[in-house]
Amino acid sequence: MAAGDGIGVRLQVVVEIDKAEAHGAVVAGLSWLLRRKLKLDYVDMYLIHMPLRFSPLAKGSPVPREHILPFDIKSVWEGMEECQNLGLTKAIGVCNFSRKKLGELLLNAKIPPAVNHVEMNPLWQQKELREFCKENGIHVTAYSPLGANGTAWGNNRIFEGDVLKNIAKAKGKTTVQVSLRWVYEQGVSLLVKSYNKERMKQNLQIFDWSLTEKEASEISRLPQCMGLTFAPLFGAHDVTKWVR
Ligand SMILES: NC(=O)c1ccc[n+]([C@@H]2O[C@H](COP(=O)([O-])OP(=O)(O)OC[C@H]3O[C@@H](n4cnc5c(N)ncnc54)[C@H](OP(=O)(O)O)[C@@H]3O)[C@@H](O)[C@H]2O)c1
Repeated sequence: MAAGDGIGVRLQVVVEIDKAEAHGAVVAGLSWLLRRKLKLDYVDMYLIHMPLRFSPLAKGSPVPREHILPFDIKSVWEGMEECQNLGLTKAIGVCNFSRKKLGELLLNAKIPPAVNHVEMNPLWQQKELREFCKENGIHVTAYSPLGANGTAWGNNRIFEGDVLKNIAKAKGKTTVQVSLRWVYEQGVSLLVKSYNKERMKQNLQIFDWSLTEKEASEISRLPQCMGLTFAPLFGAHDVTKWVR
């Protein structure tokens, strides 16, 4: 989805790698996926899902500690670059990379990541990370802009706070729309998920109005707390610390 003067919708094929191994496996993995599964010549975007490496034996959740292995950023990124150079993908990027991890990646990168997909919403605004990405020409995409309520990894905090509720009431919008509009106004793209047709429509109705300076300022002062801890997905390992 791209929103400018109007709203454009374009089908893009974006693939994320999860069990990121070293260079060769990154290239072979995408080649295999394109040929055998997707039946395509290339994807639009190839992303590292997170700076973590799992053993091929890791199945399901939680992941036993011994199946979480050291992640070699330099080697994996070389593989990503080769995928782009070979024309297997139009662009390459990352997800869940902190400033520190991006810094490590950029030290050796010949092609910088086009994008960093991270959790971002009014309660986890990622100001410093966004600043770092801007300085380094990396586009930010916000996932879980509603806090991923109703999922194994999310919570309902976006729906509960008075600040967003009161702004929504005053504007005749929903709390969800206020949250999505705030994310959009930060100049990032956003991924919001719904299986419900009415909610999908509601989620798209954020482009013909704006937050006032006062409302934006109230939201910018909300207490911050990271929502996605990874524990519901991988188990109670200190994964959050490893990916930071
Ligand atoms: N790259 C990564 O590491 C990463 C990590 C997490 C998520 N993502 C991706 O980011 C996308 C969005 O993130 P997310 O699913 O975690 O969180 P999200 O979009 O913040 O929240 C999704 C939840 O919100 C509900 N919802 C959506 N619109 C609503 C509305 N108008 N009113 C009330 N509830 C509403 C959905 O339920 P209904 O379906 O019932 O409407 C669903 O339970 C997904 O495609 C996901 O795969 C990527």
